[in-house]
Amino acid sequence: MTQSAMTGSEAMWGKRGDMIVRGQLPFNAEPPASVLASSEITAVDAFYARNHGPFPDIASHQWRLTVDGVVDKPLTVTYHQLTTDFDQHSVVATLACAGNRRAELLAVHPIPGKDPWKHGAISTAEWRGARLADVLAAAGVHREDGLHVEFLAPDVAQEARPVQSYGSSIPLSKAMSEEVLLAWQMNSQPLPRAHGGPVRVVVPGYIGARSVKWVTAITVQPGPSQNYFQALDYRLLPPDADPDTAAPGEGISLSSLPLNCDILVPGDDAEISAGPLTIRGWALAGDGRSVARVDVSLDDGRTWQQANLEPAISRWAWRQWSITVETQRGPLSVTARAWDDTGVTHPESPASLWNPRGYGNNAWAHITASAR
Ligand code: MTE
Repeated sequence: MTQSAMTGSEAMWGKRGDMIVRGQLPFNAEPPASVLASSEITAVDAFYARNHGPFPDIASHQWRLTVDGVVDKPLTVTYHQLTTDFDQHSVVATLACAGNRRAELLAVHPIPGKDPWKHGAISTAEWRGARLADVLAAAGVHREDGLHVEFLAPDVAQEARPVQSYGSSIPLSKAMSEEVLLAWQMNSQPLPRAHGGPVRVVVPGYIGARSVKWVTAITVQPGPSQNYFQALDYRLLPPDADPDTAAPGEGISLSSLPLNCDILVPGDDAEISAGPLTIRGWALAGDGRSVARVDVSLDDGRTWQQANLEPAISRWAWRQWSITVETQRGPLSVTARAWDDTGVTHPESPASLWNPRGYGNNAWAHITASAR
C-alpha cells in the first residue's frame, strides 16, 4: 500500500490517538503537552514525528551504509556488521525540532507555509547503537580541522528546491564525540520505521534536523553539506529577509541547541480549580552544559520562585521540573525561565526572536489559564 492510500490508524504509524497531527504525508505529529510531562523518557507511541518526505521501507538485511570522502579506506557496512562488529552504546538524549514552539512566534507575526508546532516537537528516548566515531575510525577518517560529515537518506522531499532527498551535516569534531550514534534501537525496541529504522543518526545536543533518519551514505568533506536542508532550510534568517528568495548559505546555520525551557502543565488556556496547583515542565541546556535552576513567576516576571528540578538523567536530556503553587480564582499567568551552569538565562520574549522561518524559539515559557 502506498503511504498516500493509508487511512485511519495505519496512517498514524503506531502513534497514540491523541497526537496532534500537523500533516499526513509527510507525516508530522506532536504529542499533547500533558503526555510529554508524564514521563522523562517519552514512549515511542508519543514521540514527535517530523518528516519532509514519505518513509523509505528498508529491510534491515537490505540496508547498506557507505562511508567515503576524506577517508583512507572507504567502507560499505551491512546491518549485521554495524550491530556485531562495533561496540554498542546507549545514550539518553532529547531530540528537539528547530520549529518547536513556533506557535508563539506565529502569534507575533505570520509565518506562512510552516507548521504551527506548539509544545510537542521535542521528546526524549534512550538510543542504542554504534558510535559514529568508531565507524569513521574504521574508514580511516582524516583528522583535519574544519572537515564536516554529511549524512544522506533516500526519502525524497518535494518541498526542497530542487526536489531532492534529505541530508545534512555536522562538523567532524562533533561527529567524533562519544554521544553521537548510528542507532538501531529506541527505548529498547528495534528503531521503528517512522523514526528512521533500520538505522538513523542521533546527534545529541544539536537540532533534530541533523539526526538523519534512514541514513545510507556518510561522506567526510571539506565543508558543510550543500543539501537543501543544510544550505537553505534550518537557517536563522534576519527578520527582514524573504525566505523564498534567500540564497544557499544565507542566514545562520542552526546546529547546537540553545538553553531553553517550557511549561507543559497546565496546558494553554486550561481551566483549573482554584487552590494548590502543580506546574510542570522541562529545561534543557545548550550543547553539553547543564541546567542549574528554573524560576517560575505568577506575576509576569515581577517576582520568582524556584522550581524543583528532577535529577539529571543524562547530560544530553531535558530535566523535568515542577512547582506547587496556591492559585486564587481568576486568570492565571505562568512564566518560566531556566539558567545554565554558566549563569546564563535565555531571551524574555518571542517578539525579540521572530524570524521568517520560525526557528529557534527559546524565549521564556509562558502560558495563561483560568482558575475557578
Ligand atoms: N531524516 C530524514 N531522512 N528525513 C527527514 O525528514 N527530519 C529531521 C530529522 N531527520 C528528517 C530526518 C527533522 S527536521 C527532525 S526534527 C528529526 O528528524 C525528527 O525525528 P523524529 O521524527 O524521529 O522525531
